[in-house]
Amino acid sequence: MLHRFIMEPKMPMTDSDIVDLLAEQGYAVVPEFIPAGAAAALAGEARQLRDSGAMRRAGVGKGPNNAVNESLRGDFIHWLEPENCSERQLSYLDALEHLRQEVNQGLYLGLFDFEGHFAIYPPGGFYRKHSDRFQIDSRRTLTAILYLNQDWQEADGGKLRLYLDASGEGDFLDIEPRAGTLVTFLSSRFWHEVLPASNERISITGWFRTRGEELL
Ligand code: OGA
Ligand code: MN
Repeated sequence: MLHRFIMEPKMPMTDSDIVDLLAEQGYAVVPEFIPAGAAAALAGEARQLRDSGAMRRAGVGKGPNNAVNESLRGDFIHWLEPENCSERQLSYLDALEHLRQEVNQGLYLGLFDFEGHFAIYPPGGFYRKHSDRFQIDSRRTLTAILYLNQDWQEADGGKLRLYLDASGEGDFLDIEPRAGTLVTFLSSRFWHEVLPASNERISITGWFRTRGEELL
């Protein structure tokens, strides 16, 4: 049975609620996927990584074509490698693993693993409109972004703009990057962009991938 949470989201949402939303609309916005306090602590870990020099400018394009292009995206990233992860990072990965299994049972997407990174957009940072599927890796099937920004205000900008039409034009949904909110969507279906943020904007962005060959 399908439920509509568009007007009155049921709180907290379960993994099975998220699956229902994905089935119905191809995306889900989940406030409090993790507690705001845990999100703030993860933001602290991201800043520590940055301060210790463990972040690098994100690039665009695939394989040998991957290059930094500040006119397209301005964030700094650090990939999560389970062997180097903190307890908090592992517990988020664990929550995603539960979601992966539930999505596979409900939607038969055949999600095989997850790859993700911290992302910090310095003030002024943005990411121009793009689709995730062919950006780096065609195995990317379901995008999952967890926001880590405590006390984010409307004036801070930095919204995720999700275009609801496959053309990438027309109707869109703007999502504020508030601590603890998870956004998940079918990677190939939704064009999206990060509007300029006037404050530092921190997230963990990643992709559930299907098994398969990397198509270069
Ligand atoms: C990305 C991306 C959106 C966001 O990293 O591919 O689209 O809201 N991020 O951070
Ligand atoms: Mn993206």
